[in-house]
Amino acid sequence: MAEPCSFVVAIDGPAGSGKSTVGAEVARRLGALYFDTGVVYRTLALVASERGVSPDDADRLVELARSLSLRVGPPSVADGRLYDVRLDGRDITWAIRTPEIDRLASVVSAHPEVRRALLRIQREIARDGRVVMAGRDIGTVVMPDAPVKIWLHASLEERARRRQRELARRGIVQPLEAIIAELAERDLRDATRAVAPMRPAEDAVIVETDGRSIEDVVESVLAIVRERCECADHGADSSRVATVPSP
Ligand code: DC
Repeated sequence: MAEPCSFVVAIDGPAGSGKSTVGAEVARRLGALYFDTGVVYRTLALVASERGVSPDDADRLVELARSLSLRVGPPSVADGRLYDVRLDGRDITWAIRTPEIDRLASVVSAHPEVRRALLRIQREIARDGRVVMAGRDIGTVVMPDAPVKIWLHASLEERARRRQRELARRGIVQPLEAIIAELAERDLRDATRAVAPMRPAEDAVIVETDGRSIEDVVESVLAIVRERCECADHGADSSRVATVPSP
């Protein structure tokens, strides 16, 4: 067998741009670990909400961030999930996907101290390479040396329609106008925060997703990865699990 090959594919973009769907599929085809960094911010938001910690209390949020015990790996249940998220063994895969956590995760992620605490965790997960990492600041801050940086673009309306369909599949009904307003509010907060604002890296390839199928976008991303990482198809291992703190 060929030598295992190490690389990081950074996929950034706003909420609903398709990062998870595209990123997870690209990782699956490359036999790489998929890690959605939004999961870390979402988990912190969930823990804070369950423990009655205010999303504005940066000091307590940092304490919680340091004590997170998280495990992200291949899906154990066929219920539409792309991966399993476990907090101290508890399955929180869907608990972190509610509209309330959407909003809270964006609020907690705006604190510079919180971002600093979570940066280390994200870099540790990427340490062994062969990883597709999705987020808002992977190409600019978390992995600025990643050989492949993708920015997924989609219009606000298209993203809202995708989010509405995704929520409906889980029995959550929301009017399109409300989703558009919520996404616009999140975009604004994520793009204007003082530290690591959401934006494409200067050397990112902008991939348009409006009006294109998932398969088509996945193929475009794979073509970019194969062009930049000659060994991309060698050393596949789809069974890897990311743990926080890392072993
Ligand atoms: O990608 P997502 O919707 O799961 O992310 C939830 C929130 O987490 C998002 O509104 C902002 C924050 N986030 C971030 O600030 N940086 C990242 N790399 C990923 C997510």
